[in-house]
Amino acid sequence: MLSNVSNHPHFSAIETGFHMLYAAGKNAQQKHKDIAVEFKGEIDLVTNIDLETETFLKQEILQRFPHHSIISEESKDIESNSPYCWIIDPIDGTTNFAHQLPLWSVSIAFYEHQKPVAGWVYAPEMDQLFFGLTSCGAWLNYSPIHVSTTEDLSRSLLATGFPYDIRTTTYTNLDLYEHFCKQAQAVRRFGSASLDICFVGCGFLQGYWEQMLQLWDFAAARIILQEAGGRITDLYNCDLPFCASSVVCSNPILHQTIVHEIHSCGAKLRKPS
Ligand code: IPD
Ligand code: CA
Ligand code: CA
Repeated sequence: MLSNVSNHPHFSAIETGFHMLYAAGKNAQQKHKDIAVEFKGEIDLVTNIDLETETFLKQEILQRFPHHSIISEESKDIESNSPYCWIIDPIDGTTNFAHQLPLWSVSIAFYEHQKPVAGWVYAPEMDQLFFGLTSCGAWLNYSPIHVSTTEDLSRSLLATGFPYDIRTTTYTNLDLYEHFCKQAQAVRRFGSASLDICFVGCGFLQGYWEQMLQLWDFAAARIILQEAGGRITDLYNCDLPFCASSVVCSNPILHQTIVHEIHSCGAKLRKPS
């Protein structure tokens, strides 16, 4: 259980993670009605709260761990020789956030030598806090979570996401979306990759795939999913690299079936980078 965490060698990082996650999430929730939106691309948004949240989290980390590296979505990385690195997505689900749709999260991960140690995903509007600690477990609001045991794709609820360059890319993911709509029970598009992956971790969803995510979209959630007994790979069933990647997640039984379907339906797939 989480009580063992006080003996963990990275207890101070874990404590900091919880503390700053709550503070950042609650602040973003309070200011949710009063946001300024800017366009990074044709359909890719950023709000003043994304930027404020990221600045706050970086300051909190550097105040306690001045030598750690930080990779974050909206500003320049902070590089150091330290083996420790924090990876931040200040708001995952910015399009939802900008439209006042309550499906968004704050995502923070802590890695050592590019290996996952701890991951937090907090969805303040739903009061859901997911936490995963390598070799210790995964929790939703401090209760342990596990992936579903479903083996049957036609009884499975899946989720996916679409890229911001959907208007111009060949890899729209619409071919896979159509295929799985006909193979699975249903397919959802929630708009926050971290939450999608955590929802597989809790067994709310049986699977999720997306053609290309950035490191900060999945760095925290992958730990939560794996500690919940799930499997997460790229589209080619290879272990995820540290950096940006396509992502498939499910329980260990259904995973093979989903990967097989991805390759058997003639969909256009991005090659691994
Ligand atoms: C996006 C969301 C979305 C996914 C996109 C991500 P952002 O992150 O996670 O669900 O489909 O690929 O870029 O821009 O809201 O942080
Ligand atoms: Ca994101
Ligand atoms: Ca984001």
